[in-house]
Amino acid sequence: MSTEAKLELDGKVYSLPTVEGSEHEKAIDISNLRNLTGYITLDDGYANTGSCKSAITFIDGERGILRYRGIPIEELAEKSTFIETAFLIIYGHLPTRAELKRFSDLLTENAILHEDLKYHFEGFPPHAHPMAILSAMINAASCFDPTLMQRFDNGRFDLHAARLISQVRTIAAFSYRKSRGLPIIYPKSAYKYTANFLHMMFSMPYEDYEIKPEVVRALDLIFLLHADHEQNCSTATVRMVASSQANLFASAAAGVCALWGPLHGGANQAVVEMLEEIHRSGDDGSRFITAVKDKSSGKRLMGFGHRVYKNYDPRAKIIKQACDNLLNVLQISDPLLDVAKHLEETALKDPYFIERKLYPNVDFYSGIIMRAIGIPIEMFPVIFAIGRMPGWIANYKEIAEDPKSRIYRPRQIYIGPTLQHYVPLHQRKNTGASAPKKNAA
Ligand code: CMC
Repeated sequence: MSTEAKLELDGKVYSLPTVEGSEHEKAIDISNLRNLTGYITLDDGYANTGSCKSAITFIDGERGILRYRGIPIEELAEKSTFIETAFLIIYGHLPTRAELKRFSDLLTENAILHEDLKYHFEGFPPHAHPMAILSAMINAASCFDPTLMQRFDNGRFDLHAARLISQVRTIAAFSYRKSRGLPIIYPKSAYKYTANFLHMMFSMPYEDYEIKPEVVRALDLIFLLHADHEQNCSTATVRMVASSQANLFASAAAGVCALWGPLHGGANQAVVEMLEEIHRSGDDGSRFITAVKDKSSGKRLMGFGHRVYKNYDPRAKIIKQACDNLLNVLQISDPLLDVAKHLEETALKDPYFIERKLYPNVDFYSGIIMRAIGIPIEMFPVIFAIGRMPGWIANYKEIAEDPKSRIYRPRQIYIGPTLQHYVPLHQRKNTGASAPKKNAA
């Protein structure tokens, strides 16, 4: 049944069509609103704005549901692998045995970076953040494939996508090695995706890293759980850049930058830094929770809260369990896990968090798993980026394949000065308006 929304403005009534998704989410289609009425909508932070129709990921934040291409995240976490899930997200269906083999072979064939790219790593200072290196190097890698510079090339999409998924992992490992002054370790074709990443991160030229299946499984699960999450900040950025018909690598590099911030993919790093600070100060988390509730403290409980989930993030549930399992198997007792559990327990009983529907998100426990594996803290957002690559690629593909796709170009409500005129330099007075301070470095 089609419904129309009625809008009354300046004494006139307008009819606006509505749209319903396959899971019954409803939207008012305002694409003709300005033409009809002269008005635009204003939605700070886009909390009520659907920026696109997408067939990739479904989230019901009220019920804590996440599905990739219709399949619940819990089933994929239990039965699938990151690479199989990447195929599902990009191509829309679970691969047959032959399709999976072809996809895996493409990843293996494209794992090595152009040798000249090694020199680009030399230019970064020793303590450069690996997210800066990752973003820069994804862009740099695109220069080595002239076919990428052409407009979306359907015949080469499979190759470009596989190259990006495979090389982002190689770049990530190289950037870690560079930041530690360690020799670069090349991928080995005998290893599967996640084992190969661990090999490139931790092997030495004279000694291979011991690849433990439990560790591979835990990291593979982290990649899988991060593989897509509909129109989050970085994916929306990728779509924004893709809408200008920029190439896949350029769009993904922009995604890395958007992901880096502590409110998004940088939260996993921020969580562990927060837990370390709490632990160092001898607090069990109670004092910190009190400080968080005082808005003037400027503190947030990192790893808690979500724009869409108003219930427990289903990924957090899975990660919490995986965290317990891995630490048990590796016989690690991490005091930060105790602090995290106590924080969670306290927050979930506290009216501040209950009223605002703030629950642990995917980043709350993932850092503790990564610490246990030996991944350094500054690499945590990079791990998120490796995992999110299939989602970015699938969203890029949706834009590129849509013949009706238009450039993303929001409007604004201008609140600056109305018409004024240029004043010659010698007539200007100091008004105390904002300007760089004298001692600005
Ligand atoms: N700790 C304390 N208070 C919080 C938190 C938090 N982590 N998150 C939200 N609030 C409060 C916020 O102060 C506001 O209170 P009030 O209504 O009194 O002003 C209310 O809850 C609503 O918050 P908001 O900032 O308007 O919510 P948002 O949807 O704009 O932001 C968020 C979502 C994820 C950025 C935010 O919850 C946050 O900063 N969380 C901590 C950072 C974090 O864990 N980020 C990872 C997100 S999940 C992975 C990903 O997608 O990257």
